[in-house]
Amino acid sequence: MDISKFAKKELLAMAAGSSTRVNVAPDPKLINLGAGDPDFNQPNIINKAVYQAMKEGHTHYEFTGVPEFKQAIANYYGKYGVKIDPNTQLCLESGGSQAIFRAFGAILNPGDEIILLDPAYQGYFSPVSYYGAKMVRAPMKKDKKGLWRPDVNAIAKVCTPKTKAVMICSPDNPTGAVYTEKELKALAEVCVQKDILCISDEIYTEFIWGRKPFIPTMKIKGMEDRTLALMSFSKTFAWTGCRAGYIISSPELMKLVQAVPIGIIGMPVPFQYAGTVALEKGWGFVKKMRKEYKKRIDFSVKRLNEIKGIKCPKPEGAFYLFPDISAVGMPSAKFSQELLLQEKVRSAPGTGYGQAAEGHVRFALVADMEHLEDAWNRVERFVKKNGKK
Ligand SMILES: Cc1ncc(COP(=O)(O)O)c(C=O)c1O
Repeated sequence: MDISKFAKKELLAMAAGSSTRVNVAPDPKLINLGAGDPDFNQPNIINKAVYQAMKEGHTHYEFTGVPEFKQAIANYYGKYGVKIDPNTQLCLESGGSQAIFRAFGAILNPGDEIILLDPAYQGYFSPVSYYGAKMVRAPMKKDKKGLWRPDVNAIAKVCTPKTKAVMICSPDNPTGAVYTEKELKALAEVCVQKDILCISDEIYTEFIWGRKPFIPTMKIKGMEDRTLALMSFSKTFAWTGCRAGYIISSPELMKLVQAVPIGIIGMPVPFQYAGTVALEKGWGFVKKMRKEYKKRIDFSVKRLNEIKGIKCPKPEGAFYLFPDISAVGMPSAKFSQELLLQEKVRSAPGTGYGQAAEGHVRFALVADMEHLEDAWNRVERFVKKNGKK
């Protein structure tokens, strides 16, 4: 049957989109540094809390969210200097992806424009298309160390009367940039001057490696009412399968967010109870994870920079490396595909994040040190064999 007659037209175009991924059969030799799924398991206190909540009968409709959980989130965000009213400024979601979908759904009409930086996390692309809106890219620029940073002038330049918002991510996936106060203030000036919103993806808040602190966008003067902050438990508590996240905004914007008809509430009730436990008692686990990621980053950056043709800046946040492989002399999609086929190391090509990132690949550091050491040896062998002589 030809289903095109029945399909929402934006979906047809999206389904026809090509993927740069190649599938290989399950292979014990594969080192998967593709997706950002932490190799840690969520702590047992969380698992037990889910079961306990179910045993106690917390398995019914909860139309606005479990109050203790919402308060625990408000307390957590308050730690970073933003006070929110959990009853009017918070919406629970089943993870960051749903937060993105709902936030976009709250503001995007067909034909509206939203500015995405280039490179940017690909999970933003399809929801923009689904709502019939247009993504306009603003290239980031590299600093002296080779780390991509937001370019506020480039953002201002692509604003038009149709622009609804600019999407940012700090700490950033894939680039590893943590936005400075100066950058956020400059961005705020553009948002106020052009009268646009900022959707601020803050899901890597807990993963910062240098001295730059995490600054919530809502804390910046002028952004209190212009920000939709997106958060997720996926990375913070290695909770990717259980799906938990939320949106924070002003009460006015929250009315729009809550009107998006995605479901009663995004997050299963027993997990809301477990989320409360995580926010109260899960920080030892986060600290351990952080220590391990830091070790992996220090080792991997050093090791990759030893490989001729690869330049790898140290990320300021998140747990990805985004090295420049252009001197190897092959496009990033080919690099990723061939590295997978020849050496069984999965990575993500830079062009998946935007054209500006041609010549880059992303490695998610979601394997232990032994596997990382093996992976970088394989990358070295691959580059020696296939790189420009
Ligand atoms: C920047 C960014 N935002 C959102 C998400 C989606 O997170 P979740 O797993 O909570 O849906 C990811 C996942 O990798 C991400 O890297």
